[in-house]
Amino acid sequence: MNNERLNKYISLINNRLKELIPECDFGEDAVHEAMKYSLSVGGKRIRPVLVLEFCRICGGCIDSALDFACALEMVHTYSLIHDDLPCMDDDDLRRGMPSCHIKFGEEYALLAGDGLLTRAFGVIANSSVAKNNPLIAVNAVSALSYLAGCNGMIGGQVIDLKNEDKEVTVETLEILDRLKTGALIRCSAVLGCLCAQADENQTDACIRYAEKIGHAFQVIDDILDVTGDVKELGKPIGSDVCNKKSTYVTLLGLEKSEKLADSLTNEAISSIEYFGDDANFLKELAIQLIKRSN
Ligand code: IPE
Ligand code: IPE
Ligand code: MG
Ligand code: MG
Ligand code: MG
Repeated sequence: MNNERLNKYISLINNRLKELIPECDFGEDAVHEAMKYSLSVGGKRIRPVLVLEFCRICGGCIDSALDFACALEMVHTYSLIHDDLPCMDDDDLRRGMPSCHIKFGEEYALLAGDGLLTRAFGVIANSSVAKNNPLIAVNAVSALSYLAGCNGMIGGQVIDLKNEDKEVTVETLEILDRLKTGALIRCSAVLGCLCAQADENQTDACIRYAEKIGHAFQVIDDILDVTGDVKELGKPIGSDVCNKKSTYVTLLGLEKSEKLADSLTNEAISSIEYFGDDANFLKELAIQLIKRSN
């Protein structure tokens, strides 16, 4: 793995996120504190890293993609804050720290999620891309709004909730995961490609890769909910069992789930053959993601 590139991306993202965290116009308040807390306590930053790498591999400038990347991480972080609420998965630990509602209370966790979601669109609208090429920013807002919305991530969360306590088919689980997890990972590809003004071949390859690793990502997330170590994972083990969710582990068993993640990763790697050796980082990242322990 080209760790130098990965670390560079993560440090660019973390520094920019700090700058973009809103300053409250009327002094500090609990919502701003909660937003800063959830954004800064950690996380792998996979989605924003992918935005930067997709932009780079399609010939774009990563600096211009940085605000799009941070906006996507804000939306992802909001989805985690809300996902942990008692009315959803009711999880007390996130990114190795008390979940937002444990630290700040449910009402501020709800508002912190709202604040991050709202801010994300402002970040795109005020980005350098929006000033130089407003149409790209409009398309980015449109894609993020669709993929995070009721036909994307939120839609997946709805199916997830509706099916608690039920045994779903693998086909339903695939639709659920394509939405709840896949949509924001696919969004990484869309935003990165938009920023680079990628052509159709490049965009198709990036989106296909994102779809495959997005699927593998949720399969591994389900496996780690069973086999993970709470200290490494930074979130509770057994949350899915506790909430009576159907997961790849409950439907296929551990061994078949691991095989599925492997074959999806191989498909992801084949999808980006188009880029030749320049895709080595994405290939290694796909492999690292199925080997992860958090
Ligand atoms: C967790 O996402 C939620 C899922 C979609 C599985 P990540 O595993 O990317 O969480 P962070 O950002 O690293 O905390
Ligand atoms: C949630 O999936 C995906 C989101 C939209 C946040 P999970 O509920 O499996 O995510 P974790 O395991 O809590 O991170
Ligand atoms: Mg959930
Ligand atoms: Mg959850
Ligand atoms: Mg999970």
